[in-house]
Amino acid sequence: MMFLLPSLLCALAGFVSAFLVETSTLTDLYPPLWKDCPSQFSDYKIENGVYTIDPWLYPERMGMYKILVTFTAKYFERFGPNNEKNILWGLPLQCGWQFKTGRLTDPTNVTECGRENGDHMCISVNSWWACLNYYLSALPFLSAIESGALGISSDQVTLLPPPKDQMHFCYNVTTCRSSFPDAMTKWNTYFQQAKNLSTTLDDLMKYLWIAHEATLETARNTFDNRYQYYSKPESDFEKSWATAVNYIAAIRFETSLIKTHKFQTALPPRLLNSGDQPPLIKDFTDCQNRVLFLLNLLYETDDSSGHKFLLLFKNVMTSKILRKIVNSAMNRLL
Ligand SMILES: *[C@@H]1O[C@H](CO)[C@@H](O)[C@H](O)[C@H]1NC(C)=O
Ligand SMILES: *[C@@H]1O[C@H](CO)[C@@H](O)[C@H](O)[C@H]1NC(C)=O
Ligand SMILES: *[C@@H]1O[C@H](CO)[C@@H](O)[C@H](O)[C@H]1NC(C)=O
Repeated sequence: MMFLLPSLLCALAGFVSAFLVETSTLTDLYPPLWKDCPSQFSDYKIENGVYTIDPWLYPERMGMYKILVTFTAKYFERFGPNNEKNILWGLPLQCGWQFKTGRLTDPTNVTECGRENGDHMCISVNSWWACLNYYLSALPFLSAIESGALGISSDQVTLLPPPKDQMHFCYNVTTCRSSFPDAMTKWNTYFQQAKNLSTTLDDLMKYLWIAHEATLETARNTFDNRYQYYSKPESDFEKSWATAVNYIAAIRFETSLIKTHKFQTALPPRLLNSGDQPPLIKDFTDCQNRVLFLLNLLYETDDSSGHKFLLLFKNVMTSKILRKIVNSAMNRLL
């Protein structure tokens, strides 16, 4: 098992090194349709004094993120200009990648939801990716409201339910808090820490990843029945991804705009088909092939060790020096 650790570290460094991209302006890195998404509460429908958001429409879900990164920009000014260092960027970029790669569409093909030639803006509740991303959009957003970071009171916002499985989701601050107290509290801690101007970026990363992991933990097994809708390589990747997040959290990967963007160019650019065999997928870059292969290997290692490998890795990464080595290796390569 130990031999995997160095190769994992190399892979993580390789993640970032292998896909240096020319970036002209920061706005090129924003998620799809960013400029058309709501950027303030008044861009949403208001019913009886309550802003009503439909998170099953891409622009409306992305709008929650846009409000989130816009209103929290002031907490990140001290780390760099143009809100580039806002570590909440990781969330909208991930949702944008899911949209762009067809992962928010209805995998059962029963509806046109999410299809490019059909109901393109629709986000399908049958999508495994969309369901987990719901938690990673609704919970930080509502927790930010609860913590006062968005300048609006808790009873002024409600989210609309999907067409089915409504009981798996929560829709306002009150019900999300009572259904998912642990995750909501951890997001709240994150926002309180962000407001404190003496908190370091490394510490903010720590609180962000704690909240992120707690959020996925609440939803982790709820949507296992979605795996059946996908090809074997895609459902394997989904499981690998859900596991990899814990490792990425352990190194406190910096989810700022540029770093997340570069990271994402190494992820599969489309849904995987039944014939796709990493690392030999023809229309993928070497880097995408390698990363996909390693993510699957990481999943198998983690799974066959009964998650002991993750505990070991987390232990190693509690050392600030080792985290620094990993991260500075990545930065040097950038
Ligand atoms: C949905 O359609 C895609 C592309 O046409 C196909 O690859 C996939 O197997 C279909 N999925 C299901 C569950 O029928
Ligand atoms: C939150 O949602 C619950 C359940 O739908 C509802 O009973 C409650 O009135 C809502 N609270 C607010 C403050 O909107
Ligand atoms: C802000 O953070 C510093 C350093 O972590 C801590 O000492 C201080 O108590 C915090 N202030 C508040 C208001 O939480």
